[in-house]
Amino acid sequence: MDKKRVRKAVIPAAGFGTRFLPVTKAQPKEMLPIVDTPAIQYIIQEALDSGIEEILIITGRNKRAIEDHFDTSVELEQLLQQQGKKKQLDMVRKLADVKIHFIRQKAPRGLGDAVLCAKAFIGDEPFAVLLGDDIVYNPENPCLKQLIECYDEYQGSVLGAQFVPDDKVSSYGIVSGKKLSDNLYHVEGLVEKPAVGMAPSNLAVLGRYVLTPDVFEKLENTKPGAGNEIQLTDALADMETDIYALAYEGIRYDTGDRLGFLKATVEYALRNELIGEEFGKYLAELDIESVKN
Ligand code: G1P
Repeated sequence: MDKKRVRKAVIPAAGFGTRFLPVTKAQPKEMLPIVDTPAIQYIIQEALDSGIEEILIITGRNKRAIEDHFDTSVELEQLLQQQGKKKQLDMVRKLADVKIHFIRQKAPRGLGDAVLCAKAFIGDEPFAVLLGDDIVYNPENPCLKQLIECYDEYQGSVLGAQFVPDDKVSSYGIVSGKKLSDNLYHVEGLVEKPAVGMAPSNLAVLGRYVLTPDVFEKLENTKPGAGNEIQLTDALADMETDIYALAYEGIRYDTGDRLGFLKATVEYALRNELIGEEFGKYLAELDIESVKN
């Protein structure tokens, strides 16, 4: 059998961002800036750094800003050219160079339904899914690259996972499986957002997947599950082909949540070339009690 390469990625970005209202009422949560870059741009960069060649973003109503961000902006380019701002010009041109396609999910029927919208784009190839809320920091070895290497070796779907504390299991898809090596598990069961105390383990699926295309047939037959939504986890739990869970290396931020977003902002600001040092000094000297009073 021919080995197929993971060339395409899907980024579901149709969610309403209800955890982050009111800011998400009229603008996509994926466009909220982490320092000076929209959250989704970090994710697209990770995909490109992992060898992905084509990206499909699943959008919905109110998500026009994402399309504009990755489109050519003639007026802005002209202005930057006139002003001789070469660095900024290169930056905006590069954004429009990425091969990105868009499709709209017609109704918010859940992550599984969003991924199903990618069926025609993907065809009969293995593909990556990167969730728009999850940013993973690993400059040496991008998270998705770790999953793709695992797929290349095992030729089965790979879920990107990490261990979470007991009180957090009910926020995630949880894996049960057989340990194959330090960081790799053969998945035997999957449950979406189990109640605390009911989870089969603490290994949570966190925002990254490499999936084989047989998932689409399962998604077409998946009934609404947790939260009355069509869950990707339920379709995966139903698959006959092998699935692995890789405990990936990297710092994962949930930017769809207020606290996760702020942690990402602070830590990316500290790493930032332009402001990192000064911001670090500011934080070190910050008198938290006096700010609160
Ligand atoms: C989704 C998935 C869940 C996964 C989580 C974090 O849930 O359904 O299995 O663990 O993302 O990647 P959501 O956060 O969209 O409710």
